[in-house]
Amino acid sequence: MAELGNDIKHAKTLLNQNKLVAIPTETVYGLAANATNPTAITQIFKTKERPSFDPLIIHIYSLKLLSNYVTNIPEKAELLADRFWPGALTLLLPKKDIIPDIVTSGLDTVAIRIPSHPLTLELLKSLDYPLAAPSANPFGYISPTTAKHVNDQLGDKIDYILDGGKCEVGIESTIIGFDKNHPTVHRLGGVSIEKIESIIGKVEVKALSSSNPVAPGMLQNHYAPKKKLIIGNIDELIQEHNDAGIISFQKEYNVKHQIQLSKTGDLDEAAQCLFGALRKLDNEDISIIISEFAPNHGLGRAINDRLKRAAIKQ
Ligand code: TXA
Ligand code: MG
Repeated sequence: MAELGNDIKHAKTLLNQNKLVAIPTETVYGLAANATNPTAITQIFKTKERPSFDPLIIHIYSLKLLSNYVTNIPEKAELLADRFWPGALTLLLPKKDIIPDIVTSGLDTVAIRIPSHPLTLELLKSLDYPLAAPSANPFGYISPTTAKHVNDQLGDKIDYILDGGKCEVGIESTIIGFDKNHPTVHRLGGVSIEKIESIIGKVEVKALSSSNPVAPGMLQNHYAPKKKLIIGNIDELIQEHNDAGIISFQKEYNVKHQIQLSKTGDLDEAAQCLFGALRKLDNEDISIIISEFAPNHGLGRAINDRLKRAAIKQ
């Protein structure tokens, strides 16, 4: 098992040796390595068993550093960065050569964000390179929102997990690109479409489009538990499956394995709890997980996106 702690210096020492360190962010835990070092990046792909054609997000600590890594910052990207960084928003921007091709899987754009977790910001400030970090889960499985989640699945493959507690947002960052200055959301996430549109106006949402995904991380069957998940009307579905585990948005059910994502109907709280709930029920002695969609606005859209993907089996 990996060591858990909050020793920034130790994390820095390992990263300087091109080793991997799991880091807390406000969205989910990341599996981090020096973003400018191809050897270190190779370890990320190996450890996650992630296909090399699925590019990584790089993490920086200051907006001033952005122009070190990208060649052009469209006005709308700048407005979003000003408003939402540090935070759960990733920008796709044309990359500079300092970012190796292995990070972007050969694409000419790089995904970049400033995370808002204080431990990770402090770590980033102590380094003279950005960190590439995908979510710290085996490829295709649910993203980790606690240090324990990381340890349970990758603990025998990495040395150290910076333990920053439970992730506040609980769902990955929203990814937005600017092809020909036309803002397009490629992944729904921790910053809602409504908030983005309040800053830059209408955006196109291409998330969960199955045809020609920009990258395989956008493939539909992602974030999936091992158990079968069905989504629909819980009251009806439990009639057919009497030993099911239930993830409801708000309502309480009188069954043994049930998780209410938010007793008060708060979408932000529901997003924070979603991945932990899927993991918990995935490990219970039940045959199937039954869930329902959340109201489809705010973070409800990202919740529903993750539920849909988790329910799709190849
Ligand atoms: O909240 C987050 O974004 C977390 C934390 C750790 O920062 N990271 C995360 O990384 O979710 P990952 O690797 O699990 O998901 C990154 C997604 C993938 O779907 C990948 O295909 C997409 O970003 N991506 C990365 N670079 C891209 C690029 N240049 N163009 C299009 N998509 C890109
Ligand atoms: Mg991921």
